[in-house]
Amino acid sequence: MEYIDLRSDTVTKPSRAMRRAISKAEVGDDGFGEDPTVNRLQEMMAKILGKEDALFTASGTMSNQIAIKVLTRPGDEVILEVESHTYNYESGAPPVISGVQLRPLRGERGILTQEQIAQTIRGPDTPYLETKLVCLENTHNRAGGTIFPLEEMERIWELCQSKGIKVYLDGARLFNASVATGVSPADYARYSDAVSICLSKGLGAPVGSVLAGDKEFILQAKRARKLLGGGMRQVGILAAAGIYALENNLERLAEDHQKARFFAEQVNGLGGIEIDLEFVQTNLVVMNLANSRLTVGQAIEELKKEGVLVVRFGSQRIRAVAHLDVSMKEMRKAVEAFRRVFR
Ligand SMILES: Cc1ncc(COP(=O)(O)O)c(C=O)c1O
Repeated sequence: MEYIDLRSDTVTKPSRAMRRAISKAEVGDDGFGEDPTVNRLQEMMAKILGKEDALFTASGTMSNQIAIKVLTRPGDEVILEVESHTYNYESGAPPVISGVQLRPLRGERGILTQEQIAQTIRGPDTPYLETKLVCLENTHNRAGGTIFPLEEMERIWELCQSKGIKVYLDGARLFNASVATGVSPADYARYSDAVSICLSKGLGAPVGSVLAGDKEFILQAKRARKLLGGGMRQVGILAAAGIYALENNLERLAEDHQKARFFAEQVNGLGGIEIDLEFVQTNLVVMNLANSRLTVGQAIEELKKEGVLVVRFGSQRIRAVAHLDVSMKEMRKAVEAFRRVFR
């Protein structure tokens, strides 16, 4: 059966045109900094993010872990949101790789406030441990693709600057935030010491993430990437996909947001499905099934029988994601399937 796959924006497959770009890529040994396509991707991304330099990495998780490693020392405390990707889905890496202690705070829909962070920070005057890094996520995955407001990022940045605390932005889907709000990626990235972007989510590339920061940060990030086994060689064949994605798939993220909103409006209320439409801000749609006759497991099974794939998102929720490889027509078909399942 041909499924309409709404599980994630990571399920997209490289298009023919992207594959052509891959096959034409000029390559060299990136270990010597000699892959022209990787270098071009890194320069493009540094420019888009308004940072001095950038580094291609294997995954969003690797970018996050490199950034934490470079911006902290063992024994430091890192503040992050309790539902963040780093806290939930990265195999408990920060204490293992960087020896840091994580201090999760619960945000409102993934959004932390300056006040919350101010109340939590441990300064240099304590004999115990010191807060050295704050990690933010924009858009926020587990909160359903919510956008971190620029003004709050600025306030948090100012607080952290005044306390000598670094700020890292997990911007796996920062371009979704940017396309939705009109705020440039560089304006978001301005309020961070380092930022990462995923190429393999809404942008539709098969692999990769790019980490950006100042030159010193990127030099140290290269060492940390090597330590993690992430130094690669003729990797221009992957960077070419990233360049293609930046040149062709960025503005079109707006279409994914339209598809997600259409879908959310249509399925909200069907057979007890509850969606907080105010928080369908980008391409992710989180549906609460607490008041449905179907459990999450049953809903996933029934939808699969109807040709639609979605994922479990906690005990009472499922998630659907609009992306490059689902058309509006397929989105309509998915709505029909939901109508049959949630009669
Ligand atoms: C916000 C966020 N950060 C980081 C990642 C990790 O990306 P990867 O799967 O490439 O390691 C994800 C993946 O979904 C994510 O949603």
